[in-house]
Amino acid sequence: MAIVECKMRLDKFIASMGFGSRKEVKNNIRKGLVTVNDNLIKDPGFGVIRGKDRVTLKNQPITYEDYQYFMLHKPAGVISATEDPKHKTVLDLLTSKHRKDLFPVGRLDIDTEGLLIITNDGELAHNLLSPKKHVEKIYYARIQGVVTEEDVEAFKNGVNIDDDYTTMPADLKILKSDQVSKVEIIIKEGKFHQIKKMFEARDKKVIYLKRMAMGRLQLDPELKLGEYRVLKVEEIELLKNR
Ligand code: URA
Repeated sequence: MAIVECKMRLDKFIASMGFGSRKEVKNNIRKGLVTVNDNLIKDPGFGVIRGKDRVTLKNQPITYEDYQYFMLHKPAGVISATEDPKHKTVLDLLTSKHRKDLFPVGRLDIDTEGLLIITNDGELAHNLLSPKKHVEKIYYARIQGVVTEEDVEAFKNGVNIDDDYTTMPADLKILKSDQVSKVEIIIKEGKFHQIKKMFEARDKKVIYLKRMAMGRLQLDPELKLGEYRVLKVEEIELLKNR
């Protein structure tokens, strides 16, 4: 059976890869800034085959990628959403060209730092976030209050957080027990404000929270707060083949 190659409008193709709004792209095409397979094309509706035709804008090749994957070191003060009327979002931190349909995989609170995966791969996101998949998320936290072995035990048994919800067992490791304690927590679900609520239920307060790992993917220590990079192929594999 013949494989039908699906054509896409040139303006839509360029815009969807993040090279301007549809209007800007149309203007650029009409101005003669776009080539397809080395031919100057001035018709925004010209049909291109994704992944086959070679498209350039201002002599820059635009390669088609079905999926894009980024690792962001989320700083405090930005929202894990695609848009927000008041705050900067994690997507605003992606300054390089990227697909238009990216979203963050799960949410970190506005004041939480650390590893955030940004992609347009819905299936991967679902597999990482579904409570049924039990993907481990590792956090480092500083806690107002002396964290004790009783807290460790309570986390192991699951903590009652919302009126009638008891969390799945969580691993709490005390790194330093003091007036301000330092801990590592591993949870396998991602309820809203989960870690803060778990400590609240133990009469303690999270004063700093950072996600260090998701599944087998660790936050790259080279990435400074607010920095991001493309995930390596082997890192994507780590996430897919848990
Ligand atoms: N738990 C929280 O309380 N906040 C986060 O951002 C992540 C996990």
